[in-house]
Amino acid sequence: MFQAERRDVAYQPPKLSAPKEQDQPRLVHVPDPDREDMYFPDIWLRDNCLCKECFLPQTLSRLPQLWNNLDTSVRVLRHSVDRDQKILFIEWSDGHASQYPFSWLRERDFSPANRQRYLRECYRPEQILWSGQDFEQIRQVFYYEELISCDAALRQWLYHLAVYGVAMVKDAPLEMDVLRRLSNRVGFMRRTTYGEEFSVRAQPGASNYAYLAAPLPLHTDMPYLEYLPGVTMLHTLEQSASPGGVNLLADAFYVAEMMRDRYPEQFRVLCQTPVDWADIGSDGDLKFHNIWRAPVINLDAEGQCMRINHSIPQRDSHFSVPVEQVRPWYEAMATFVGLAHEHSSRFKTTPGDVLTFNNLRLVHGRTGYDDTEHNVRHILGAFIDWDIVYSRLRVLRNARQLT
Ligand code: OGA
Ligand code: ZN
Ligand code: ZN
Repeated sequence: MFQAERRDVAYQPPKLSAPKEQDQPRLVHVPDPDREDMYFPDIWLRDNCLCKECFLPQTLSRLPQLWNNLDTSVRVLRHSVDRDQKILFIEWSDGHASQYPFSWLRERDFSPANRQRYLRECYRPEQILWSGQDFEQIRQVFYYEELISCDAALRQWLYHLAVYGVAMVKDAPLEMDVLRRLSNRVGFMRRTTYGEEFSVRAQPGASNYAYLAAPLPLHTDMPYLEYLPGVTMLHTLEQSASPGGVNLLADAFYVAEMMRDRYPEQFRVLCQTPVDWADIGSDGDLKFHNIWRAPVINLDAEGQCMRINHSIPQRDSHFSVPVEQVRPWYEAMATFVGLAHEHSSRFKTTPGDVLTFNNLRLVHGRTGYDDTEHNVRHILGAFIDWDIVYSRLRVLRNARQLT
């Protein structure tokens, strides 16, 4: 047992030496009469044997026996291809025998083109980043009743949301259950400390900054949660007649990529400086103390932007980094905020609109507004998690492929 060390500097993975000969992948060559030949690592084929001992069809999953004592040096003794049946046969050095249909192999072919196809078509569509001036071009409208009644429309909405990070739904009734009905079409809503649906309207003395009539600068919702909600939906029930209450929206992945390109050192600082995010208080009877520590720009294992955290009111005054990291972070953040503002778009929703956007990627806000008894603004908000959205997209895609 050992205790994970909390490091002050970003962890640098050990430098990997060049692969030695014995580390080279041992590939099984599978000639395919109808298309390009395929090559599979031998150990991967052994791990993914489809026989009754190795695979359980009813759960579509691998059985664990092989891993009780995995022989990583397992080798192919003989392999052959039935060109008519289109099946690959393998006899293994551990005495096992396997068969793989070509249709199954083709789907999993390791060629760069096939891996790309799988990632785009099945895993997640590729995101297209945009700046404020592109907004009119990428802005697309979907109609509430169509989303409720038509699977093709539902799929187009979710696909657009995945690619561009924003989609506008129009003509929703001015009723309280619109976000619930939309969420149920996708799967289900995400509950947070503010409940399932929440009302954004001016409430003097409110305990959350968003519930004031003041300007709400660009932010992501709930950066203080490790599992923050993925998709934000804002349904306009009543809009302020004052000039304010205008929506602000920017693609923070676009901004991050600009910084990677133009200000690489500041980009590194925003990727590697953990920031403390906080929301401490109560909603109704529920008291909460939510804090999460993570950088503003979060990259995935391949270095792609995965999540942005940003909210001025919800950044903690604790900043648990060494003092020398503080000023560089402020310098980098000033650049980020300036660019996000410069590349933001502005528009004003009207009653019946549901603005939906990717809360891991976009920053959003609104200008301040006047709020009086006869001139109110009332927005209903709710969330759905990305896992639920992507799952629905894949199910809709598979259903369409079968018909
Ligand atoms: C929020 C928010 C936007 C708006 O409540 O977090 O972003 O238009 N509201 O009021
Ligand atoms: Zn097997
Ligand atoms: Zn918000």
